[in-house]
Amino acid sequence: MRNFISVNDIKNIDQLVQKALDYKSDPLKDKTLGIHKRIGCLFLNPSMRTRLSTQIAAQNLGMEAIVFNVGQEGWALEFEDEAIMSGNTVEHVKDAAPVLGKYFDILAIRTFPSLKNREDDYSELFIKQFIKYTGVPIVSLESATLHPLQSLTDVLTITEESQNSKLKRPKIVLTWAPHVKPLPQCVANSFSQWINAWGIADFVITHPEDYELDEQFTKGATITHNQDEALKNADFVYVKNWSTYRDYGKIYCNDPEWMLTKEKLSLTNSAKVMHCLPVRRNVELSDEILDSPNSIVTQQAGNRVWAAQAVLSELIKSNF
Ligand code: CP
Repeated sequence: MRNFISVNDIKNIDQLVQKALDYKSDPLKDKTLGIHKRIGCLFLNPSMRTRLSTQIAAQNLGMEAIVFNVGQEGWALEFEDEAIMSGNTVEHVKDAAPVLGKYFDILAIRTFPSLKNREDDYSELFIKQFIKYTGVPIVSLESATLHPLQSLTDVLTITEESQNSKLKRPKIVLTWAPHVKPLPQCVANSFSQWINAWGIADFVITHPEDYELDEQFTKGATITHNQDEALKNADFVYVKNWSTYRDYGKIYCNDPEWMLTKEKLSLTNSAKVMHCLPVRRNVELSDEILDSPNSIVTQQAGNRVWAAQAVLSELIKSNF
């Protein structure tokens, strides 16, 4: 593995999940693997889970992690080739990235989409420019369209829960939920991409009309606008808001009826409820669900460490 940007960088999902579960059982089993190696974690946007879990994962491997909140503390970066930099951007990625490649053995980056121009966001220019100019392996800590470390965590969490419940082929439902502001499609795109690639579940996506996701990620899933129908006999319900993809970055319907409640959960096979966090309580997900034994959101967020550790371990083994 040279970079970790999407599921396409992975040869075998189950093997990577098993590696993460092995780290969960024995966090320090490879405590010297990353000795004298340094990872830079660049954040152009806020984060709690991704930032801390990646730092802990690196430390568990004996690796030094340096966090740089470049969005707040760094020079404003330009990403367009041949840009005339007479505006607000101060430094071109072409100049900054090779310097970062001298400082770090691995560079991890979080960017967000603008939600203004779909073609620009879906071109993944930011992450591609870092890959092109840094010269060291790149890890996505969430990009404009995908959140692969979150999705690996999600698959890992579904795997451990399925093993506990002896589920051979779980039914997984991704359901849209209301929100107060337009959010990226990254988590929903990435979850869909990973579950489809994994191929060992019955996968249903449900959302109101106008919230169709990009087919390149959802192809293979059953898609319905009938949430109740989708929830029937579900073993896992993944709750997430996203803004519109076609008429890009908008909120159309924001029907509170789409929030998951106990009544709706009764349609399921006493499903485990997942969310990537942060979550808007009683907008996206009700207190009664989040505070119930069905919610596995804390377990899921805790698993971020093991997913990150498995990925960093693979990158160290394949590149150094
Ligand atoms: N799920 C997730 O990425 O959380 P943070 O934004 O806190 O990193």
